[in-house]
Amino acid sequence: MNIEAKADDSAIRLQGLSKSFASQHVLDSIDLRVRRGETLTVLGRSGSGKSVLLKLIIGLQKPDAGSIEVDGQDITRISLTELNNIRKTIGFLFQQAALYDSLTVEENVAFPLRRHTTLRTAERTDRVRELLARVGMEAEVRKMPAQLSGGMKKRVGLARSLALDPKIMLLDEPTAGLDPITTAEINELIQDLQQERQMSFVVVTHDMLTVNAVANRVVMLYKGRLVFDGAPGEMKDSGHPFVSKFLREAEGRD
Ligand SMILES: Nc1ncnc2c1ncn2[C@@H]1O[C@H](COP(=O)(O)OP(=O)(O)OP(=O)(O)O)[C@@H](O)[C@H]1O
Ligand SMILES: [Mg+2]
Repeated sequence: MNIEAKADDSAIRLQGLSKSFASQHVLDSIDLRVRRGETLTVLGRSGSGKSVLLKLIIGLQKPDAGSIEVDGQDITRISLTELNNIRKTIGFLFQQAALYDSLTVEENVAFPLRRHTTLRTAERTDRVRELLARVGMEAEVRKMPAQLSGGMKKRVGLARSLALDPKIMLLDEPTAGLDPITTAEINELIQDLQQERQMSFVVVTHDMLTVNAVANRVVMLYKGRLVFDGAPGEMKDSGHPFVSKFLREAEGRD
């Protein structure tokens, strides 16, 4: 890593990032920086490319053009081994939680610890219990994913994404489908992690409660571009018709 990269306080830096599927331009030359310790929320209507954006950042999809720097390293120009090392520093919560169906809740959360640490069984069990307790799932350790509700799967996915103490968390709809009390608990967990560990977060959400609880900054994706980039409180004065429409609809839902 060169000195310039070290001096930069970006956790993530996207430049000219474009991604199309066939003739569909999902992301069109996006520039975006997430500072260390910052929580950025990403808004946008269904199909606007929010999940694609997160998958590009973790290298699960390849961009057509542009660079993706994570902690100063352009992940589009490194080997798979190097990419896997960077992935260990990123916690990823998929929109559908993506638990391993044939593993119990406990085994799902233990999976990254087994694979990437030398913890002994007893230590690993303790760590898994601690992680599940943080998301209120400690009573469900023996269940299989098929026996969980959507919100419970999400919470287990969140526990698993925290297992390796990541520096960056990418959360795809962490509170979608959760009741207001569980939503508030997840938002509090994110706030605790911000304070305790100064993690950087990118949170995709359509939930303004989550935005207002956790975001330092909000961006809005619309037709492949970022049409808003600012503090949550500035959204109402954005002047962009889609941002105003989004806020009106969100207020109507509350
Ligand atoms: N692997 C893929 N192959 C083809 N098209 C894809 C693929 N992944 C995503 N897309 C398309 O890219 C667009 C953006 O998808 P994406 O999943 O990022 O939307 P989103 O903003 O996350 O929507 P939602 O809020 O519904 O989750 C969609 O039109 C989708 O059909
Ligand atoms: Mg999505």
